[in-house]
Amino acid sequence: MNDKSTATESAKKVFRDEVLAGLARSPRQLPCKFFYDEPGAHLFRQICELPEYYVTRTEIKILRLHGAEIAAVLGPQIELIGLGTGAGTKTQILLQELDRPAVYVPIDISREQLEKSSERFRKMFPNLQILPVAADYLEPFELPLPRHLSSRSVVYFPGSTIGNFEPEAATEFLSRLVELVGEGGGLLIGIDLQKDRHVIEAAYNDNAGVTAKFNKNLLARINRELGADFDLGRWQHYAIYNPAEGRIEIYLMSETDQCVRIGDQTFQFRGGEKILTEYSYKHTIGGFTMLARQAGFEFQQVWTDDQRWFGVFYFIVAN
Ligand code: AVJ
Repeated sequence: MNDKSTATESAKKVFRDEVLAGLARSPRQLPCKFFYDEPGAHLFRQICELPEYYVTRTEIKILRLHGAEIAAVLGPQIELIGLGTGAGTKTQILLQELDRPAVYVPIDISREQLEKSSERFRKMFPNLQILPVAADYLEPFELPLPRHLSSRSVVYFPGSTIGNFEPEAATEFLSRLVELVGEGGGLLIGIDLQKDRHVIEAAYNDNAGVTAKFNKNLLARINRELGADFDLGRWQHYAIYNPAEGRIEIYLMSETDQCVRIGDQTFQFRGGEKILTEYSYKHTIGGFTMLARQAGFEFQQVWTDDQRWFGVFYFIVAN
């Protein structure tokens, strides 16, 4: 077997193990990181364009409006480490504003997106050293050694992706970023803020049904890759805001009593039974600042939109 098919085989084993373990738990759950196979990533890009999904649009607006100020605060000749930056739309805006950035290290699980955006950025920023890393940034990874000298390392983590972590796990993850950037390093991070629950619930229950399709694609993926027989017509997308926890909760709900086979295992679902597929936390400015402080990040500044729906935060690791 060549390296690539070995990697595919072990990824598939991880997928199978985590799916079977998640479905055996009570309450049942499936990890949201598995949403993003190729069809899922395509659906997510469609979500970002939906009229109800304010998240992406608002973050981009903040970057356009405050990009120059953000760049001034980050400083000249930095090394920018991008986590899960995908196609690089937001990173491009940031790089255009930055003062002579020295190194850009995009870390993304999708090799294809990495290659495409790196290629584009090499043309746009000929003086920037670009060192793409194809890795799952949720797992430990090593940084390539840059040739260019930089003044400081700054992690850029856009998209409010950290909202998928429960607070304790978020702090733990941020602590790893503190280690990664070191003393004097920084973190620029996009965070979806708490707001009227109707606005949030509409964003995860769009009229066109794209989010429902995105959610159900997880079952379709289990069918495709693990030879399961989920009947997609008997599952419903269900997303509800939990104000006490400050999170939207996304489930797949069984419409009937049913039996599902995955390989040699059978799972019984009752009508109305739910599988948790995603939490997406919405923070307050104070709440997220505190969480980051616990990890070792000192708050510097936050930029928001007029409605205060989204925040782009900057933190540093104090010397
Ligand atoms: C990629 C985690 C930021 O929580 O808004 C969008 C994922 N799920 N619609 C989010 C998502 C359903 C998204 N994040």
